[in-house]
This record gives sequence, C-alpha cells and structure tokens, in this order.
Amino acid sequence: MNHALSSALAFSIIFNIASWSWAEEAPPPVKVLVTYHSLSGNTERMAEAVAEGVTSVPGTLAVLKRVGQVTADDLFSSDAVIVGSPVYWSNMSGEVKTFFDSWQFKFGVFPEFKMKNKVGAAFATGGQISSGKEITMLTILAAMLGNQMIVVSGGGAFGASATTEGDSPGIDKKELADAKALGRRVADVAKLISKASAQ
Ligand SMILES: Cc1cc2nc3c(=O)[nH]c(=O)nc-3n(C[C@H](O)[C@H](O)[C@H](O)COP(=O)(O)O)c2cc1C
Repeated sequence: MNHALSSALAFSIIFNIASWSWAEEAPPPVKVLVTYHSLSGNTERMAEAVAEGVTSVPGTLAVLKRVGQVTADDLFSSDAVIVGSPVYWSNMSGEVKTFFDSWQFKFGVFPEFKMKNKVGAAFATGGQISSGKEITMLTILAAMLGNQMIVVSGGGAFGASATTEGDSPGIDKKELADAKALGRRVADVAKLISKASAQ
C-alpha cells in the first residue's frame, strides 16, 4: 500500500502529557485539529511536522486527519484548527474548499457561528516559488475569519509553506522547521485562550 493511500485510511492522535500530573486540578488538554488535503504527500509531510510542533507544547493533543475524514465532533471539540492545502491554480484545492463549505452543509456552523473564538491557522505547499502559496493561506484564513475564528500565523507571515517542484529539491529542513513553529504557535495561543476563558 503506498504512503498516500495508507494515510488516507488512517488518522493520528498525538498527546504531549509530559507536564501533566494526574492530580485532580490537571486541566484538560488543549486539542488542536491538523487537517489537510494531499495527493502526492507534500502537504501531508508538512501536516505531520505541524502536529509535531503542536505536541512539543506540554498539555496538548493533536488530531491529524485528512479533510474528508473530519467529523462534526472533531471540529467542535477542538480548541484550534490548522488547515493545509496544496496550491491548485494559485488557490486552495477544491477538496479544501469543499471542506470549508461542509462546515455549513454538513455541520451547520451558521447562524450560531459555532467555530467562533477557536484559533485558526494555515499552511500550504506549492510547486513554484511564487505561484499562489500566500493566496492559498490567505483564502484559508479568510474562511476562518468569516467563521469569527481567531487567526494566527507562525513559521511565515501567513503560516508555514514549502516549495516542492522545479528547482526546489522538495520540502527542506527549514520548511519543516517552519511547520513545527506554526504548530507550536497555535498550541501556545490556544492554551492562553483556554486558560483565560477558564477564569
Ligand atoms: C491541478 C494542479 C494545479 C496546481 N497549481 C499550482 C499552482 O498554481 N501553483 C503552484 O505553485 N503549484 C501548483 N501545483 C503543484 C502543487 O501545488 C504541488 O505539487 C504541491 O506540493 C502538491 O501537494 P501534495 O503533494 O500534498 O499533493 C498544482 C498541482 C496540481 C495537481
């Protein structure tokens, strides 16, 4: 079974419980959904690094899933959602756009704004250096803003991104480090918000 197919059939839940004492006052973990579309594996590699960044922050739980596998419970039980897309014609892929549309058609987020005040962030991979990665991240963030989410960046000005084709040798260490930095930043901000709203 190839990598893309095997991961289409599976998802991961990764915990960082390093700092938890199982005392009564231990807070519930901050849950971050990392979800993506990927045909040839590039965006999936970035997604795995983003999830690694999330769980490098103590007291977090990362759920890693393809966009088509996300359930209403995944969405509504998460404190933060990080969405990744390959660049297709200088924008997010159709699968990722369909995912956002399904927030209404399948999950009924509007008119209550059920995603309000959850943290949101974006990452992207594109074949070329300057052919749509930033637009892809900005349109992901725009969908989140429309849902009254609190969007943050990390790794780069609009999120983490990688160039995968042409003169690029593929995703490099710096791009994977940016992806981890994005995951860490989202987990940090989600923890701050969760702590503040518990007071
Ligand atoms: C239909 C299609 C359209 C694409 N359009 C662009 C584009 O406009 N700009 C770009 O930089 N790369 C474009 N690419 C390249 C992909 O964004 C790139 O290979 C990406 O890393 C694929 O991600 P994946 O391996 O996660 O599927 C396109 C690829 C496909 C299949």
